[in-house]
Amino acid sequence: MLKLNEKYMYGVEEMDTEHAELISRAERLMEAYQKGETDSEIIRLLEYLAAYVVIHFRNEEMLLSSYGYPLLEAHRALHREFKNDVITLQNAIHAEGMTLQSRLKLTHLTTEWIDHHIGSEDKIIADYIKSKRSL
Ligand SMILES: [Fe+2]
Ligand SMILES: [Fe+2]
Repeated sequence: MLKLNEKYMYGVEEMDTEHAELISRAERLMEAYQKGETDSEIIRLLEYLAAYVVIHFRNEEMLLSSYGYPLLEAHRALHREFKNDVITLQNAIHAEGMTLQSRLKLTHLTTEWIDHHIGSEDKIIADYIKSKRSL
């Protein structure tokens, strides 16, 4: 289970603040899912998460761009892949409700994917930004 903790705090304030918000929205969604909330409530909370994902990814990409991060395009591609996966999931839930496949995908995107992305991929870029800031 994804939990907001110090593991995701890297000392790059802009990123840390937004990651906390992102994780809190993902947690709300997973809690609702685990409590067996209605499909429409799941859709609402997924939209609430997705709206912030768009804002955060854009800000993070601008931050990386401002520091001349050489692998920006690769990181942007990871963000794009996630956004596309969320849209595909939203469409599937709208069309078919919460099927087993949608449940698995929802859990994957809101726990493992976010944990891996923030915990590994974003750690790399946070280290890069910190190294630039300490120059
Ligand atoms: Fe991030
Ligand atoms: Fe990222």
